[in-house]
Amino acid sequence: MTTSTVHALPTIAWPVRTHLTKIQTGAGSINGLVDELDFLEKERAVVIAGPNAAKGPTFQRILDLLGPRCVATYTGVQMHTPRHTVYDATDVVTAARADVLVTLGGGSTSDLAKAVATMLGEGRPIEELHSEFTPPDTYVEQFLKRPKMPQISVPTTLSGADVAAGFGVMGPDHLKRICRGDYVAARVVFLDPEATLETPLEAFAHSGMNGLAHGIEALYSRTREPLSTAMALESIRLFVTNLLLVMDRPSDLDIRLDLLWANVLGGMLLSNARMGIHHGVSHALGGSLGMTHGFSNALMLPYTLQYNLEYVAPYIARAAVPLGLAVAGQSDIDAARAVIDKIFEVRTALRVPRTLRDLPEPPSDQTLRELSETVYSFERSTYFNPRPIRSADDVYELFRLANG
Ligand SMILES: [Fe+2]
Repeated sequence: MTTSTVHALPTIAWPVRTHLTKIQTGAGSINGLVDELDFLEKERAVVIAGPNAAKGPTFQRILDLLGPRCVATYTGVQMHTPRHTVYDATDVVTAARADVLVTLGGGSTSDLAKAVATMLGEGRPIEELHSEFTPPDTYVEQFLKRPKMPQISVPTTLSGADVAAGFGVMGPDHLKRICRGDYVAARVVFLDPEATLETPLEAFAHSGMNGLAHGIEALYSRTREPLSTAMALESIRLFVTNLLLVMDRPSDLDIRLDLLWANVLGGMLLSNARMGIHHGVSHALGGSLGMTHGFSNALMLPYTLQYNLEYVAPYIARAAVPLGLAVAGQSDIDAARAVIDKIFEVRTALRVPRTLRDLPEPPSDQTLRELSETVYSFERSTYFNPRPIRSADDVYELFRLANG
């Protein structure tokens, strides 16, 4: 690989935070749940899950393990964590006089617990706790630092939410506002691959495309640093390798555990390496068109890389060697293109539609124009994107690429 920087890509000075999360791994590891309550010196747990997870055996297993130390459950989790669910769950947690939250689920479940703990810990409504972005380049971060109720989490997808120092809550306007702070990430995470078997396979795999995007966007993040780059490269390798395997061997727990580790790396990246426009368009598609965050990520990721290519090629090219791609002697642009081709290959294995136009209900041009306005006017990710985003037309250009 030869090195050439097509556009200089300066970083933004940014504090780096390390993590306090304890990670327990292995099939059956959740059997140690009560030991972790003891470790945290907590007695009164509220178990939080979505309605589907609450019907599964792992949820029941958690209730059995906790016995009388489970003082309530909340099973009203919804996709993208709508604001009203935060208030509903907070009422349950307060009435139960809980001192610890146990979550079983994906990013929306984890984000709900984080939002509850944050609202209670900060003592202010969730509407007042997010960071603010005003286009084109004014970002004001509100970093929340008060102690919060600890969470123990059992992830069933690959969003990385459990270990990330931030979370999103969707308002009635379908916009996802992001809160960030210390003590937001779970204190204990169980990487138990058996718990993931209850997640529908395609949803599980699509959530891996979100995790993969965390690694990819971290590589070229404007707040990248050596720690994030090292984690990003290994997360990309683990995601690509194992997402290509999991559809054919869905009950292989070793593949799933590797994916859970990739998920942890991706979540840790979210704490420090701020995400770019890919996450902005994925949030907009999810909030407006009802896609899961994993699916919108899967749809958009290679197109975002094409869109950003001239700005990010040397950074994306670094993923070529860990992915085993033969790029010796190639330019950064060509090596980056080989990485993008590999991501297309993963998408194909996951049966992701090739373009927006291939969706069962493709968004109209008018919708894409409106989404472009939303992303430009609201999404902080445009501030952190390596390619400057100066107008809604700039965002629309990315949707046009993804439209085929
Ligand atoms: Fe994400």
